[in-house]
Amino acid sequence: MKKDNETMILAIETSCDETAVAILRDGVKLEANVVASQIESHQRFGGVVPELASRHHVEQMTIVLEEAFRQADMTMDEIDVVAVTEGPGLVGALLVGISTAKALAFAHQKRLVGVHHIAGHIYANRLQEEFQFPIIALVVSGGHTELILMKEHGLFEVLGETRDDAAGEAYDKVARTMGLPYPGGPEVDRLAQLGQDTLAFPRAWLEEDSFDFSFSGLKSAVINTLHNAKQKGIELKQEDIAASFQASIVDVLVEKTFRAAQQYKAKQVLLAGGVAANRGLRTAITTKFADQNIVLSIPPLWLCTDNAAMIGAAAMIAYQKGNQADWTLNANPGLDLEMYGKR
Ligand code: KG4
Ligand code: ZN
Repeated sequence: MKKDNETMILAIETSCDETAVAILRDGVKLEANVVASQIESHQRFGGVVPELASRHHVEQMTIVLEEAFRQADMTMDEIDVVAVTEGPGLVGALLVGISTAKALAFAHQKRLVGVHHIAGHIYANRLQEEFQFPIIALVVSGGHTELILMKEHGLFEVLGETRDDAAGEAYDKVARTMGLPYPGGPEVDRLAQLGQDTLAFPRAWLEEDSFDFSFSGLKSAVINTLHNAKQKGIELKQEDIAASFQASIVDVLVEKTFRAAQQYKAKQVLLAGGVAANRGLRTAITTKFADQNIVLSIPPLWLCTDNAAMIGAAAMIAYQKGNQADWTLNANPGLDLEMYGKR
């Protein structure tokens, strides 16, 4: 049951290949969290097929919604805010969530709030512990690699970002060349645990003071190494390729995050996004910050990959700032994080 002074948020996420609905009390306490993954449907194509994703979202949405209300033992009457991922993401996929949110909010006369997907990944951490500013957030997912400075709730300053591939994208492409199934990140991570960093792949540090990233050179180096070995009939250990690739990515991510934390005197450092599930990254960043007087937040695995709980957590802040969307709310595949924060 909901008390009068509490805010109940129904959150919907459909930006990529998970249909997800969550119900949150005051944006921090989860009452329901349901995620329907479509990974199996996309696997035989080696990546997410946008048309297929949209169709799956349409098929799954009502089922996932009903399951969330069942888990929370609530009805729409008790909901105050309907929150939904507005962007970035696949336009057709986003539209399914947005149409659902608008229909529910309109029919039941509730507030409608649009949420930035990356703000969601960051706010997944607030379901674990309260934020302490300034925060440095390392966002690493299939579509994003960014170092973000937050001085207060809901405001985001992008210190650096990838100049080419996102970290997850590099993982998925390397995995595909290695003949591993989609999504490749978890597979490469698993193999990396069993191998050694023997191949000394390049680390792209870029300019000395830059917080930007670049992974395309590394990706090409791995792919070239694989092709050359194949041509010469040399057998490389899959585990060592994975471990060497992972060491190169993780080194750069952790070092730049550490430098940003020092430069901006961070009180908290947090990991966000699908690649935050990576065991190599989780271990390396924990070691690097072990003797620092900084809170290091690493979400549990179920909060790293796409879910609606994180969208609800970010929506609470947007709602408290008075950000209410109207019925013109639309999918915004290129939604800018800094602009979103300044609304
Ligand atoms: O955040 P997410 O679920 O979706 C996006 O918003 O992009 O991230 C998905 C990405 C995929 O590229 C996937 O391969 C990667 O996260 N990923 C991992 C691991 N688990 C998921 N990458 C490396 N190691 C992992 N354990
Ligand atoms: Zn995501």
